Amino acid sequence: MQKIEHIGIAVKDLEASNELYRKLLGVAHYKIEEVASENVKTSFFNVGDSKIELLESTDENSAIAKFLNKKGEGIHHIAYGVSDIYAEIERLKSEGFVFINETPKPGADNKIVVFLHPKSAGGVLIELCQDMK
Ligand code: CO
Repeated sequence: MQKIEHIGIAVKDLEASNELYRKLLGVAHYKIEEVASENVKTSFFNVGDSKIELLESTDENSAIAKFLNKKGEGIHHIAYGVSDIYAEIERLKSEGFVFINETPKPGADNKIVVFLHPKSAGGVLIELCQDMK
């Protein structure tokens, strides 16, 4: 793992949360991106070398909608940046971690991503992400 690439935060209203985070961080989001395959609309803020990703659901059956219904707004996942996602997947599998998806898929912000199941990672949803080449 190279660094904490971003922290994902589930929000009910992306526009209102963009304004909240603009005040909090002192900078505006640098992009808004819809990830249709995940039924989410995201916005990104730079915080030093890391980012904050806000996630709003675009479908009542999305993972974010379910998370919001169950837990309300708040931290949804921690994303670690990696340089070789396939090597990390193999390493973590050999350590007994369980993946939600084992094959990297396109995520927001020009990344390929996989997710580890929170049940195998101490209750935290973990994303591994690598820059798309
Ligand atoms: Co993320």
